[in-house]
Amino acid sequence: MQLGPYTLPNALFVAPMAGVTDRPFRKLCKRLGAGYAVSEMVTSRPDLQDSLKTSRRADHSGEPGPIAVQIAGTDAAMMADAARYNIDRGAQIIDINMGCPAKKVCNKWAGSALMQDEALAIEIVEAVVAAAAPHGVPVTLKMRTGWCADGKNAPAIALAAEAAGVQMLTVHGRTREQGYKGFAEHDTVALIKSRVKIPVVANGDITGPQQARDVLARTGADAIMIGRAAQGRPWIFREIAHFLATGDMLPPPDLLEVKAWLLDHLEDHHSLYGEYTGVRSARKHLGWYAQALPLPAGAAGVFRQRINALTTAQAQLDCVRDSFDAWAAIGPDHPMTREDNWKLAA
Ligand SMILES: Cc1cc2nc3c(=O)[nH]c(=O)nc-3n(C[C@H](O)[C@H](O)[C@H](O)COP(=O)(O)O)c2cc1C
Repeated sequence: MQLGPYTLPNALFVAPMAGVTDRPFRKLCKRLGAGYAVSEMVTSRPDLQDSLKTSRRADHSGEPGPIAVQIAGTDAAMMADAARYNIDRGAQIIDINMGCPAKKVCNKWAGSALMQDEALAIEIVEAVVAAAAPHGVPVTLKMRTGWCADGKNAPAIALAAEAAGVQMLTVHGRTREQGYKGFAEHDTVALIKSRVKIPVVANGDITGPQQARDVLARTGADAIMIGRAAQGRPWIFREIAHFLATGDMLPPPDLLEVKAWLLDHLEDHHSLYGEYTGVRSARKHLGWYAQALPLPAGAAGVFRQRINALTTAQAQLDCVRDSFDAWAAIGPDHPMTREDNWKLAA
């Protein structure tokens, strides 16, 4: 797939998820088969641009390109400045967030709230495209299907955004009103795909290879984007890639293989955030990994308890190493399924 000057290796994208898809996680997803990743949202407010959180999000060192940075905000001039700020720090693609339902974002009339004011939304798109164009940086847009069930205006915004110079659209098949409730529908994505010429990406509730194939077939979308199903399971991308290429399901990864990925992920995570913050913010990733794996009875819960009690990077790494070695020694013939594990860990 082509995005501006960039040829993407495949059509499997990692969704931006604030607090989850930081640089270490994006790097691991790309290593395990994702063709493209968008950074977590970066604020357009200049007073926050030097905050530790924002500057960490704007640090892309070591990440395979193209580097795509998502920006969010309500003011066209500020969004244009945010685009320039991120381009100066290495962004090769700028993604505008019109898809986030979070109160923190929507109360300030950004994220998916912007979809309620189409004129402002397009003013922002035009300003960002004008800021990015001199640098040859493509601008993309991520949105929901609309504000509410009776206001599914994503197709109208898609056409206007394409006319304004946006080069790729991603659509999460829920309205803002839905939050994360109900199910994503992909008919609106199919409609948009039939109307625009730029690439369209389908997003929402894609959790495995067959679903990925079905969504691609039903929508005609150029790519799919996966968020929550990749939490603790970054190898989902290679599973889907393999299935799309061969029609066969890959067996689950070997526990010792996962151990090696996880140790790399942890070391990268600790080095980005520092020991104090890194050890704490890694806990959620470790919990997700344990939930996603077919572990012996009760193991995910016990692992989580142990991890939550540890406060140093070395102890966290040792715990992962020892736990995975112990689980691998038990072998795959234990009676638990992944679903049982989810229930135990809930
Ligand atoms: C924890 C979390 C954080 C998210 N943060 C962002 C964000 O910063 N920007 C954005 O456009 N979408 C954000 N999203 C939405 C996802 O990108 C995606 O559209 C949504 O989760 C639906 O895809 P999924 O069903 O594959 O998870 C977030 C979702 C989650 C669960």
